[in-house]
Amino acid sequence: MEKQTDERPGVYARRRAHFALIFFALLGIGLFVWNPDNLYLWIKALHIIAVISWMAGLFYMPRLFIYHTDAEPGSVQSETFKVMERRLLRIIMNPAMMLTWILGLYLAWSVYGFQGGWLHAKIALVVLLTVVHVFFSRAVRAFERDENRRSARYWRFMNEAPTVLMILIVILVVVKPF
Ligand code: HEM
Repeated sequence: MEKQTDERPGVYARRRAHFALIFFALLGIGLFVWNPDNLYLWIKALHIIAVISWMAGLFYMPRLFIYHTDAEPGSVQSETFKVMERRLLRIIMNPAMMLTWILGLYLAWSVYGFQGGWLHAKIALVVLLTVVHVFFSRAVRAFERDENRRSARYWRFMNEAPTVLMILIVILVVVKPF
């Protein structure tokens, strides 16, 4: 019987992700052609959808690393975690991060002209969030080669980085304190 970790379900998942990306691109182009009065709000809605997808991955990935650290290299569990990590990164996190950046930069440019202390602080924190993303994607490659040297405790600690950044980013963009 076919397992979810086999090649074919992975191909289907990638296909669905490509379909979702094409759908988003067409929706974006459609919105620019239609050019409704509230285009900004449409783009903001898409920005928030992308942000939620990206954050879901950033929260879940270190949890996978915690369990993966405990799994014996070469075991069935370890190989399953590799598939889960690879697909989470490639199918959800990478596209969601790109969309968050593109749509966020459009919002920042179109209404705020890249002005405002809150906006500069927010972009700086999103850069840090992106550094965490790159760090996680390097860890996925290290786990892939069975070369992770970090403890479960370390990954539990790393779990907090995206949480703290997300709280600060949301306060900055909603309250705009400066
Ligand atoms: C470089 C990337 C990003 C840029 C340039 C950016 C920029 C912006 C801008 C200009 C707005 C519109 C604010 C308004 O209309 O009041 C916005 C909305 C928002 N952003 Fe981002 N953003 C980025 C990434 C993120 C991330 C990573 C998060 C969450 C972790 C996030 C969360 C939100 C939320 C929740 C809103 C809606 C705020 C509201 O309507 O009150 N953004 N973003």
